[in-house]
Amino acid sequence: MEEEIKLEVGKTLKLDITSYTHEGLGVGKYSGKNLDLNLENYPFFIFGAILGDTVLAEITSLNKSYGYATIVKTIEANNKDSRVTPICPAYKLCGGCNIMHMSYKEQLHFKEEMVKSTIKKFSGVNEFKQLPIIPSQNIYYYRNKVQVPVISFLNKTKCGFYERSSHKVVPLDKCFIQTEKSTNLVNFVKNIFVELGVKGYNELYDNGNLKHILIRKNHDESEMMVVAVVKDLSFLNEEFKERLIDKIIKRYPEVVSISINYNPKNTNTILGNTSITIYGNNYITDTLCGMKFKIGIESFYQINHDQTEILYNTAIKIADLNKDDIVIDAYSGIGTIGLIISKAVKEVYSVEIVKEAIDNAEENKKMNNVKNIHFVCNKAEDQIALWLNEGIKVSTIIVDPPRKGCDEKLLNSIIEHKINKLIYISCNPSTLARDIGVLSKNNYELKIVQPVDLFPHTNHIECISSLVLRNISS
Ligand SMILES: C[S@@+](CC[C@H](N)C(=O)[O-])C[C@H]1O[C@@H](n2cnc3c(N)ncnc32)[C@H](O)[C@@H]1O
Repeated sequence: MEEEIKLEVGKTLKLDITSYTHEGLGVGKYSGKNLDLNLENYPFFIFGAILGDTVLAEITSLNKSYGYATIVKTIEANNKDSRVTPICPAYKLCGGCNIMHMSYKEQLHFKEEMVKSTIKKFSGVNEFKQLPIIPSQNIYYYRNKVQVPVISFLNKTKCGFYERSSHKVVPLDKCFIQTEKSTNLVNFVKNIFVELGVKGYNELYDNGNLKHILIRKNHDESEMMVVAVVKDLSFLNEEFKERLIDKIIKRYPEVVSISINYNPKNTNTILGNTSITIYGNNYITDTLCGMKFKIGIESFYQINHDQTEILYNTAIKIADLNKDDIVIDAYSGIGTIGLIISKAVKEVYSVEIVKEAIDNAEENKKMNNVKNIHFVCNKAEDQIALWLNEGIKVSTIIVDPPRKGCDEKLLNSIIEHKINKLIYISCNPSTLARDIGVLSKNNYELKIVQPVDLFPHTNHIECISSLVLRNISS
């Protein structure tokens, strides 16, 4: 029945949760009269709400076509198995995880449905085979990279994670998605900086110096990297370096690389352009799918080691490669995918835009004694057009772009040169769907979508898709 109320911030409403947003917020739709307006299915987005539940929610903001609300109480928990008490006491505040209130089974269900509906909605392709999501081997302590903001306020320096949708910092005592050693090392490094007279940065007053601490580790934590990001370098004398190195190495002998990164700009980008390595090498080494990889400070490397092996092995199986194949590995990072497939194919052409990543890739090629791979540092969209126009007979292209997806020029080259098979590894279902839409309108058939969970307790997901050129004559 139609209710007559005035919707305003602070009012409470009874809402049935009927779906999730991409971020995993529960969606409850309100239909009724709001002053003179008849509202139909006006959606409220509610953090912590579970699909199937009925909640009493307080309106926190109202926009023209949607609003936000918070749960006052759950009136009916229809989906008891889907909710868990988050293991992390900081979960409600911390912006690091956003679906920890869902059981892992519900998280997988949410991701699976989100991938399916996004592809249908944004690609226009309605019929395709989506395989069941591959769950993560480890759902806790899986991250091999952490980037922690440091701030100082009222003479106290703390480091932690940003609060949800804010730049306030939740102190980092324990985190359930990164290892205990990484958390302890972050706090240890912060304390040494403070002890040596370098305070955390305060972005509000633009004072202080230490902005972020970045830790990278390999899969068995036998090698760790420390990068301290600072606003100014004036503190960095020989005595500071010696004392910092001495203290870190005595306590954490597995640290093989210490660098200071200079980032004077007040932007959301964590790393500046200059890194000064003051101890060891500017990389760590990891083993992945039986091969060794050097990973530099700025180079991309997937953050969940065990699940990355599953992601790559599944992509290789779907690609169904053979010894006659000539493959392009676009957005190659440090060369992981190209090097791993190199044994199975005739030749690989890899392209990546970050110079350090390509330097790592060349070293990785030597270290693994691979001969049939070529690395180029360039924009993938430019380099692929060059290769194809040169007449390289490519049978399969593997793309693994950043969140913004593939450049239009790259898709046009694939279409123009009628490349037979495309394996698309994506970390963003929306841009994946957009690109599938372009390809499917140009004679490519979406064969398989395989979601793989690399990021438990967050709304992020990896997806492998395969697209094949339709045989026009058939
Ligand atoms: C999701 S990562 C994948 C890296 C690699 N395939 C892996 O699995 O480790 C995307 C990579 O694309 C690179 N990149 C971003 N824009 C690019 C462009 N226009 N051309 C080539 N590489 C680009 C990034 O530097 C990053 O290394």
